[in-house]
Amino acid sequence: MKTTKLVMLVMTIAVALFILIPNLSWAEDGAAIYKAKCAMCHGPDAAGKPAMKAPSLIGDEAKKKSDADLATAITGTAKHPAPVKGLAADDVKGVVAYIRSLQK
Ligand code: HEC
Repeated sequence: MKTTKLVMLVMTIAVALFILIPNLSWAEDGAAIYKAKCAMCHGPDAAGKPAMKAPSLIGDEAKKKSDADLATAITGTAKHPAPVKGLAADDVKGVVAYIRSLQK
């Protein structure tokens, strides 16, 4: 009887973790990716860094661009010095959403 209860408890925790973990990491993706892969050139606040020739991502220029334009710029046009490898389409969406949140 006691063993059954323990097994049930462990199962419940396991299921809860399965549901929680992917959601937790998804929520902070955009900001985390930006900090890790973009901030060194575009600045922590995305205002750009002249020394890196990286433009502001929160100025009028970037605000005018569509999400698709920003996504293309990120994943690597020949112009972008950092065609950021290993970013999945969802990651790019997350970063674009993060940039939009900084533009407000
Ligand atoms: C090695 C420095 C460097 C890194 C790292 C870098 N960028 Fe850039 N980025 C630039 C430079 C320089 C330009 C200007 C050339 C161009 O437009 O492609 C640029 C242009 C852009 C543009 C186009 C802006 C516009 O108004 O046309 C976007 C959007 C952008 N970067 C987003 C990102 C994101 C998001 C990341 C991280 C995933 C990133 N960049 C990482 C240097 C960098």
